[in-house]
Amino acid sequence: MVPNLLGLLTIAVAATGVLGHAVVRVPTPRGAGSYYEERCGKTYAEHMESDRAGPIEDGVAMAGSELNCNAFLCRGYQTEDNSATEYKPGQVIDFKVDLIAGHRPGYANVSIVDLASNKIIGGPLRSWDTYPNSTATTPRSDINFNVTIPGNLGTACSTGGKCAIQWYWYAIRNQQTYESCVDFFVKP
Ligand SMILES: *[C@@H]1O[C@H](CO)[C@@H](O)[C@H](O)[C@H]1NC(C)=O
Ligand SMILES: *[C@@H]1O[C@H](CO)[C@@H](O)[C@H](O)[C@H]1NC(C)=O
Ligand SMILES: *[C@@H]1O[C@H](CO)[C@@H](O)[C@H](O)[C@H]1NC(C)=O
Repeated sequence: MVPNLLGLLTIAVAATGVLGHAVVRVPTPRGAGSYYEERCGKTYAEHMESDRAGPIEDGVAMAGSELNCNAFLCRGYQTEDNSATEYKPGQVIDFKVDLIAGHRPGYANVSIVDLASNKIIGGPLRSWDTYPNSTATTPRSDINFNVTIPGNLGTACSTGGKCAIQWYWYAIRNQQTYESCVDFFVKP
């Protein structure tokens, strides 16, 4: 049988279409490092680095008892491996999400997370009841958007490592979670 290239391509596209897949590209999000590999385990770290836009659940399923980090906080990326950017109260930060495949809807939001307690500070900076937005037009407001740094953070995010802006997407039917974190601090 002659290989049908179009057929193969269709299968490849359909296969990716089943999965969601996304990662924040701007600002540069938290990434891997030696603390990450040590705490989350080599299996998790290698799997997740093989696809930075991939879902957390896949890596968790593979890692088993090697996983000694909270994979659902910033995808397991660690404070010690990353540095924080200073933002000013009221500063508008542009975000760009690389939405590689997103045919299955879910919810998404962007929040400031207290990294020690894994609690959200204040309300979400952005939220989408349905994500991706199936009616979005270019430039898409679900993948090109901004968030405003609140003016009332006080000392909550006063030094690097206390807070991150976390982009969060949960794809309901796939039961898959995607996260990217941006480390920042705001001087009180
Ligand atoms: C963000 O969305 C997730 C999934 O729907 C939800 O669990 C979480 O509470 C939301 N966070 C905020 C701040 O709304
Ligand atoms: C989805 O995109 C459309 C077209 O840009 C826009 O009008 C609508 O407000 C968006 N919905 C959400 C929830 O952002
Ligand atoms: C931030 O996004 C809003 C739409 O949500 C837009 O009206 C505004 O111009 C943007 N601000 C900047 C500084 O890009």
